[in-house]
Amino acid sequence: MPAQPILRIGHPCLLQTALPVAEFNTPELDTLVADMLDTMAAADGAGLAAPQIGVLQRVVIFGFENNPRYPERDPVALTVLVNPEIQPLGDETESDWEGCLSVPEMRGWVPRYRRIIYRGFDPQGQPVEREVEGFHARVVQHEVDHLDGILYPQRIEDMTKFGFEKELFDDSLEETSDVEGSC
Ligand code: NI
Repeated sequence: MPAQPILRIGHPCLLQTALPVAEFNTPELDTLVADMLDTMAAADGAGLAAPQIGVLQRVVIFGFENNPRYPERDPVALTVLVNPEIQPLGDETESDWEGCLSVPEMRGWVPRYRRIIYRGFDPQGQPVEREVEGFHARVVQHEVDHLDGILYPQRIEDMTKFGFEKELFDDSLEETSDVEGSC
């Protein structure tokens, strides 16, 4: 299956609520998942939700070993999750930098629940349930948000911590100029 174009922020599809998958183990679902896996791999993504390729179905994929977009993260097993649900474990949240293939070249500082249980099904209809924390929990919350039409910039509380990755993480930009009034 070829990688599909990824919709970018501003596209109305990304604001829609996706519909539950009604039938498992079908050629249509297998094709969708294959397209999503190819699309995520081609873009070096850590996760992808079906609406990002214009399909309003409740399907997400995530996982990586050594991801160039997130080089310092622990690996997350490659997972396909259909009709996912998230249950936070406690009220504790933590904030971290987050990106999205639909918001290219940018990063934002996003609060998420630190520990969650997620449940759903694999494409054959077998139940999946995991208790996770940290970056793994973050990725799942990010992807499931896509199914409800929410992009991570909507979760940012401090908009001074949203910008282009290149500028945000360029230490040389922090040096103040000798000339007052210039930047
Ligand atoms: Ni995303």
